[in-house]
Amino acid sequence: MTTPQQAYDELLQVSRELALLNTINAVIGWDQEVNMPPKGAPWRAEQSAYLSGAAHRKFTDPRVGELLATAEAGDFGSDPLSDEAVNLREWRHDYDRQTKVPTELVEELTRTAVIAQGHWAEARKKAEFSLFAPDLKKLVDLVRQQAECIGYEETPYDALLDAYEPGEKTANVQRIFAALRDELVPLVQAIAESDKQPRVEILHREYPADRQRILGEAASAAFGLDYTASRLDVSTHPFSTNFGPGDQRITTRYNTRFFNEAFFGTLHETGHALYEQNLPPEHFGTPRGDAVSLGIHESQSRTWENFVGRSRAFWRFYYPRTQQMFPATLGDVNVEEFYFAVNEVKPSFIRVEADEITYNLHIMLRFEIEQAIIAGDLQVDDIPGAWNKLFEDYVGIQVPDDGQGCLQDIHWAFGGFGYFSTYALGNLYGAQFFAKAREDMPDLDDRIAAGDFKPLLDWLRANIYSQGKRYRSGDLVQHVTGKPLSHEPLVAYLRAKFGELYDL
Ligand code: CO
Repeated sequence: MTTPQQAYDELLQVSRELALLNTINAVIGWDQEVNMPPKGAPWRAEQSAYLSGAAHRKFTDPRVGELLATAEAGDFGSDPLSDEAVNLREWRHDYDRQTKVPTELVEELTRTAVIAQGHWAEARKKAEFSLFAPDLKKLVDLVRQQAECIGYEETPYDALLDAYEPGEKTANVQRIFAALRDELVPLVQAIAESDKQPRVEILHREYPADRQRILGEAASAAFGLDYTASRLDVSTHPFSTNFGPGDQRITTRYNTRFFNEAFFGTLHETGHALYEQNLPPEHFGTPRGDAVSLGIHESQSRTWENFVGRSRAFWRFYYPRTQQMFPATLGDVNVEEFYFAVNEVKPSFIRVEADEITYNLHIMLRFEIEQAIIAGDLQVDDIPGAWNKLFEDYVGIQVPDDGQGCLQDIHWAFGGFGYFSTYALGNLYGAQFFAKAREDMPDLDDRIAAGDFKPLLDWLRANIYSQGKRYRSGDLVQHVTGKPLSHEPLVAYLRAKFGELYDL
């Protein structure tokens, strides 16, 4: 007979073995993006699939189901916030998600997604939605089946959202997004009509890549990223990844004619890496030592990129260094002009290039379309029309073609319905945490302006990073800020900042 304690210990072992497989996969995935020559791709795909497959088989083995049932029969649940209870809760969640969907359906989804991504890339290039529509129809059908297998309380979309933001509910996100949208749409309009506009030309002057690198790396080190446990490299699509305790990698890409791309990209990935670097190492390889969700992860990247990196306080500290680094480029630019330029708000078509305000509107539109598609209220063929109409309603400009509209993102082509909302949730969580950090540390802006980021990092470490997955995202927000997630902190932050910048 296996006792609950023995079952728990064996599950710990399984969990740590999965972490080994997954971090080895992370190493070869990083190499693929940063170093691998093109001809290495097919074998690398085999290696990666082998490791993912081994991890999946290991975790979905019926033995894990038996161990879970045995451990759950013990009294680990008496304190739902104990390490054991947290681990069991999350293992159960993942085990159910991975075993409820039949293998044939998983394989069918993977196969369809691979083909769909090829067609999507072509459709995007030619700006022709009809080239991708047949694949998307198949994917939507499969994703709906997936949702039915997993199960949900209110709407199938809940089952999809739960993959990226465990425990979050569609109705809650819907309510918060609607309130946010009602505030942001008129704000964007007022900004567009303002007579005061930044001199953005200064960001498109000559910025040599080697100097950008030094400046970005120094900023991330000042934030607290430990470069004896990290590296900054170059890749086409910037990302951050975790190889295990003591090794978190980030990447960026340099555009010598646009300052923002590498600099704020580096700060964004730094935020992700700071979270991973400060998770409790003794719990590595278990949910208790893992990040909460994509949304909470994004809240950290946005905190360091925007709430810190795009603040006036930060530029009071960092602009003299920036000017020193690019003396010829920025000799005639003062700190206020620079601060305004990096905070330009301008309606644009592409999500990944959007500013702090309109970004949220890009996400809401995707969220609404996804829901309508999954609910069967919108047909795939009608996506371009629905997209263009919503885009004009929210952002105020007309989409010229589907390449700059509904075909711009890869997410649907890999079946990632439910993913998008985590980006805007990240902004919302981040703003609510940051408002609380300000309240707890009234001199936070002065510290930042003095180049002292330690108080903020310590606060985030104590309240968020050290907690691992102890709380689900909604509970973490409630626990840290004393209130449920609301649109208000983000709206208050955006109004104050941009109201002042644009003289509203
Ligand atoms: Co991110």
